[in-house]
Amino acid sequence: MDLLVLSRNNMESLISLSKVAKSFVVGSQVVPVLKDVNLSINRGDFAIIVGPSGCGKSTLLHTMLGLEKPTAGEAYLGQHNLYQNTTEDDRSSWRQKYMGVVYQQSNWIKALNVRENVAFPLLLTGKTREEGLMKAQTKLKEVGMENWAFYIPTELSSGQQQRVALARALITDPELLIADEPTGNLDFKNGVELMEFLVELNTTQKKTIIMVTHDLEYLKYAKRAIRMFSGEIVGEYTGSQKDKLMRTLEMPSKEKHVKSK
Ligand SMILES: Nc1ncnc2c1ncn2[C@@H]1O[C@H](COP(=O)(O)OP(=O)(O)OP(=O)(O)O)[C@@H](O)[C@H]1O
Ligand SMILES: [Mg+2]
Repeated sequence: MDLLVLSRNNMESLISLSKVAKSFVVGSQVVPVLKDVNLSINRGDFAIIVGPSGCGKSTLLHTMLGLEKPTAGEAYLGQHNLYQNTTEDDRSSWRQKYMGVVYQQSNWIKALNVRENVAFPLLLTGKTREEGLMKAQTKLKEVGMENWAFYIPTELSSGQQQRVALARALITDPELLIADEPTGNLDFKNGVELMEFLVELNTTQKKTIIMVTHDLEYLKYAKRAIRMFSGEIVGEYTGSQKDKLMRTLEMPSKEKHVKSK
């Protein structure tokens, strides 16, 4: 695995956001979406970001991924200042090297089978088709999908597709896995299976994981919960505090109380 060289100021920080703000211009209006976000994701973290729809979770992930330049503030990936004196190509190559991404719904290349789809990111890094396909088969085995290699991805169930999506995200052996609502289309059983797999990746393969979810039930699998509201980080929780957060958010009256603050 090609490890990120960490920043000099903070030895453990893989991702570091400092005073990040992001506004979008919609018509004649400037809409602030992220406001003064400070966040550090350390090597070995399994962080879940929660918050209501529209609070900026995906925008925050896009900023970390090098896909969305902040209006103000700085975003670091290891020692790389993502948006200062860098090009799209720099960010794209860092993404390829260090990050695997899983979304709620995967974009498959429809003309390719499962194994070829999984191999694809490796071909972009210059590996041969044979190398790619061989590694894809190994990754499919890791997620228990080796017998589905010659299917077309859309022929699989949602749960199976997410496992294949994980294999594709992991094919380049990235240090970081970023997942935006990966359980969003899954029933509870498949959701739990996916979460257990993420825990395994975090503990045995030492992947650093950042995940966004709506489903508080899944908070218990993470080491750290980050709560967003209206473009801001309003709380960070670990251990028993995290369990308390789950209970608090499940009670609508308390949620209202927090919102009115
Ligand atoms: N490219 C864009 N142009 C204009 N507004 C945008 C753009 N991208 C996001 N927004 C706005 O930013 C806000 C936050 O969007 P974002 O997708 O980050 O929310 P989210 O927390 O991920 O929501 P959800 O849980 O529904 O996925 C929304 O109001 C959205 O309309
Ligand atoms: Mg989103």
